[in-house]
Amino acid sequence: MRILGIETSCDETGIAIYDSEQGLLADALYSQVDMHARYGGVIPELASRDHVRKALPMIRELMQSHDIDKSTIDGIAYTAGPGLIGALLVGAALGRSLAMAWQVPAIGVHHMEGHLLAPMLEANPPTFPFVALLVSGGHTQLVSVKGIGEYRLLGESLDDAAGEAFDKVAKMLGLSYPGGPRVAALAEQGTPGRFVFPRPMTNRPGLDFSFSGLKTFVRNTLQDLSDANELTDQAKADVALAFEEAVVQTLVIKCRRALQESGMRSLIIAGGVSANLRLRAGLGDMVKKHRAELFYAQPRFCTDNGAMIAYAGCQRLKAGQQEALTIQAKARWNM
Ligand code: KG4
Ligand code: ZN
Repeated sequence: MRILGIETSCDETGIAIYDSEQGLLADALYSQVDMHARYGGVIPELASRDHVRKALPMIRELMQSHDIDKSTIDGIAYTAGPGLIGALLVGAALGRSLAMAWQVPAIGVHHMEGHLLAPMLEANPPTFPFVALLVSGGHTQLVSVKGIGEYRLLGESLDDAAGEAFDKVAKMLGLSYPGGPRVAALAEQGTPGRFVFPRPMTNRPGLDFSFSGLKTFVRNTLQDLSDANELTDQAKADVALAFEEAVVQTLVIKCRRALQESGMRSLIIAGGVSANLRLRAGLGDMVKKHRAELFYAQPRFCTDNGAMIAYAGCQRLKAGQQEALTIQAKARWNM
């Protein structure tokens, strides 16, 4: 089964073609990040308009350049939510219309299910069951995964998502959007141990997260440094490192707890923050000690992309899932 995937939930237009026999055949990504960077965040209306401009030409270009004829496409998967509603509607309307024109089924995919399954695109994919840590700009969730569609929420952030905390701290540090990779790069210059920030909600049971207090802690530390006239570039790097370590340690502690409580031996991490090297290293050390295994996607499939949507849609359609001719787009949607 060969599926065209369309991702337009936020500021990335992702197009891909996944074949259940041959794997990922082609993928293309257009990031709007330069357009939004001058505003310090994503402007929804601009995002929608740009998806309208880019998505269809990208599909045509991708299929032509890989010599893939539309008659070989068995179905279309588009991101139906959660995300920016205008941006979602672009991909949904396009996916639904192409499916109608090509007389194939279309299916609306949950964006976070796409992220969750992205490590399946790798050469050494995890096998079910596993614990999944989903860490993106909008979500921080621990999920027990028994199979496609068999997801049980173990815990989630009660306030900011991990990626959101990275982005907000980046802003405080005067770094541009998207902040995660920039905070991580600045932290590379940081002095280990100069600051130690709290690991929120780790000293009580449970698998929920909270990152907003940590964000306030960063803001207060920066204010104190500024008041003391000590807010040097080095001090900023030291704060970035302390923040990153606090987030990573918090995630490591909760993942360890989730593995212990579920008895599972595989952990996958997915979503934009799973590209973070300190997080990968921290979790890598932890799973080794617990004789478990860690899986993640290559960096370009950690952040938003069309391949994960094509893959997730393929699994759903292969399982016989059908959808009416209505267009699915939901800004908020539980997985
Ligand atoms: O999954 P994603 O591309 O979009 C959403 O579905 O939200 O995740 C984007 C988030 C942003 O908050 C970004 O700052 C963060 O992932 N991110 C990172 C890194 N790369 C992306 N955070 C920390 N370290 C990184 N290397
Ligand atoms: Zn995403």
